[in-house]
Amino acid sequence: MKIIIANWKAKITTEADAVALARGSDKEGLVVCPPHAFLDEVRAAIVHASLGAQDYAPDLSARGATHVIIGHSDRRREGETDDVIAEKIALAVSDGLIPILCVGETKPERDAGETHEVLKRQIRTALSRIPAETAPIFIGYEPVWAISTTPGAEPENPTDAARKIAFIREQVSHGSYRAMVSYIYGGSVTATTAGGFLEKENIQGLLVGGASLHEKEITNIWQQAQKA
Ligand code: 13P
Repeated sequence: MKIIIANWKAKITTEADAVALARGSDKEGLVVCPPHAFLDEVRAAIVHASLGAQDYAPDLSARGATHVIIGHSDRRREGETDDVIAEKIALAVSDGLIPILCVGETKPERDAGETHEVLKRQIRTALSRIPAETAPIFIGYEPVWAISTTPGAEPENPTDAARKIAFIREQVSHGSYRAMVSYIYGGSVTATTAGGFLEKENIQGLLVGGASLHEKEITNIWQQAQKA
């Protein structure tokens, strides 16, 4: 069984839609990440799924969240630096949350041949402020050029995604960080493309944006993850 993280981003704008989608996504092994404003309503609507947030905030554990996405490209685009991300990871860990760190290169970085350099810097800095033995974390490889909201997004090829994840894993193993890390992929995952990623042994789950807004689609992706 592999994990599915549903990142609704800012696409769900009413409480009624948040509750309906939460009920339709209420599966064990699925982490639902609604906008911050709907955390309480979603928490009350789910029994089997876990609750995640889209960014660190001090009230998350009190509101029942267990997971938090940190370093998403939407935040990096707004100027969030690797140092701020490292600080948020440390705060999340000390609050008892499971961080889902997002890393990934932009198209210009990829085209300039800087992917490895970028991933190395993002990983090393992000993990620099947490103790070597700590709670489990997730690291999501999300190439910015593959995220559906990026103009001209093209999905990553599963074999290349698995290679990048192998590189990320290598970077983590070079550092002092020794906790359990699970590696996941995100970027234009749909019910049609999910299988190609899930069949890769070193991809242990998926971060799903746009497709997670549709109950049938996210259920289908989750069902594939159960068999993987
Ligand atoms: P899409 O699945 O819409 O490409 O979004 C991916 C993402 O950013 C999840 O965090």
